[in-house]
Amino acid sequence: MSKTELFDLDGKIALVSGASRGIGEAIARLLAQQGAHVIATSRKVESCEAVCSAIRDSGGSAKAMSCHIGNPEAIQNTVDTVVAKHGRIDILINNAAANPYFGHILDTDLSAFKKTVDVNIQGYFMMSAAVGRAMRDKGNGGSIINVASVNGVVPGDFQGIYSVTKAAVISMTKAFAKECAGLGIRVNALLPGLTETKFASALTKNESILNHALQHIPMRRVADPNEMAGTVLYLASDASSYTTGSCINVDGGYLTV
Ligand SMILES: NC(=O)c1ccc[n+]([C@@H]2O[C@H](COP(=O)([O-])OP(=O)(O)OC[C@H]3O[C@@H](n4cnc5c(N)ncnc54)[C@H](OP(=O)(O)O)[C@@H]3O)[C@@H](O)[C@H]2O)c1
Repeated sequence: MSKTELFDLDGKIALVSGASRGIGEAIARLLAQQGAHVIATSRKVESCEAVCSAIRDSGGSAKAMSCHIGNPEAIQNTVDTVVAKHGRIDILINNAAANPYFGHILDTDLSAFKKTVDVNIQGYFMMSAAVGRAMRDKGNGGSIINVASVNGVVPGDFQGIYSVTKAAVISMTKAFAKECAGLGIRVNALLPGLTETKFASALTKNESILNHALQHIPMRRVADPNEMAGTVLYLASDASSYTTGSCINVDGGYLTV
């Protein structure tokens, strides 16, 4: 019996936002390990370059690019540059997100509201549309994966506007999935639970907040970023060829309680 090729990404071009650390870095490394050429993006190209260099040292293929996803022009330029070089994009991972405000929802100021919406909703939407058009032009279909959050289902305490944007990402996943299915473009979402990254450090590095959070996680621990990457590989690969519009919880059981 031979090993399955369902998870092979040989020759695929994969664009990952927020790939310089945390969950995005883990995703970039696994996709490259499975054979994809990864374009690793974030605001700071030098941080992405460090990730790409480690990927290349392990025999993979990766290129760093700067792209602030709150800027629609930067998004279109990035997509145009990748398509001009490689002729196509097969896989898009919308992962970079902003969460600038932690506090009571009634006190959310307009600038935190706008920043969160510009990155988490507008950024994911415009990136999906730009890459989706490139996939449509090429005619080979593709896979788009949105990193949402369990907070898109159950709002996080004092993370109101962030949770609202993650609910929008879940809705966006289904809307794009429905309209793009006929083009062979699959669109799915990963809903991570609490994961040990810089993003979550305000929660995981505060003992009393962490202990409170762990009471609501049946597995009684936070995730390692690498534990998010396997589901993304599944959604990016032919292993999920009949899956679109799905939102997969990877949360230690958080949403079951
Ligand atoms: N960690 C958790 O507990 C958790 C739980 C649920 C969902 N999530 C989701 O998982 C995703 C990744 O989070 P993480 O925990 O891995 O965070 P992280 O370790 O802080 O990494 C965030 C990444 O996004 C990039 N980034 C931030 N703002 C950006 C922007 N405007 N444009 C482009 N890149 C930007 C950062 O690089 P630069 O600074 O160089 O731009 C970095 O590469 C997010 O969508 C988050 O909502 C995380």
